[in-house]
Amino acid sequence: MLSYGPASYKVIALDAGHVCENLYLACEGIGCGTCAIAAYDQEYMDLLLGIDGDEEFTIYIAPVGKVRG
Ligand SMILES: Cc1cc2nc3c(=O)[nH]c(=O)nc-3n(C[C@H](O)[C@H](O)[C@H](O)COP(=O)(O)O)c2cc1C
Repeated sequence: MLSYGPASYKVIALDAGHVCENLYLACEGIGCGTCAIAAYDQEYMDLLLGIDGDEEFTIYIAPVGKVRG
C-alpha cells in the first residue's frame, strides 16, 4: 500500500479542497448550491457518519440543495 507518511496531512487537505471545488462546479451544473463548512460538531458528525473519529474522521462538510428562483 502506498503511504505518504507525514505528508499525508497535507495531501488530505489538498484533496478535500479539490473534492469540494468539484462539488461547487457540479452543483452549478444541476441548478443546486453548496456551502463549505469547517465549523461543525466533530463528535456528532463522526457519530452521524458511523466513523470512529480516530482511524476515520470528518474533515469537511458541504450540504447540497436546490437554488430557489
Ligand atoms: C474551507 C472553508 C471552510 C468554511 N467553513 C465555514 C464555516 O464553518 N462556517 C461558515 O459560516 N462559513 C464557512 N465557510 C464559508 C462559506 O462556505 C461561504 O463561503 C460563506 O458563508 C459565504 O457564503 P456566501 O458567499 O453565499 O454569502 C468556509 C469556507 C471554506 C472555503
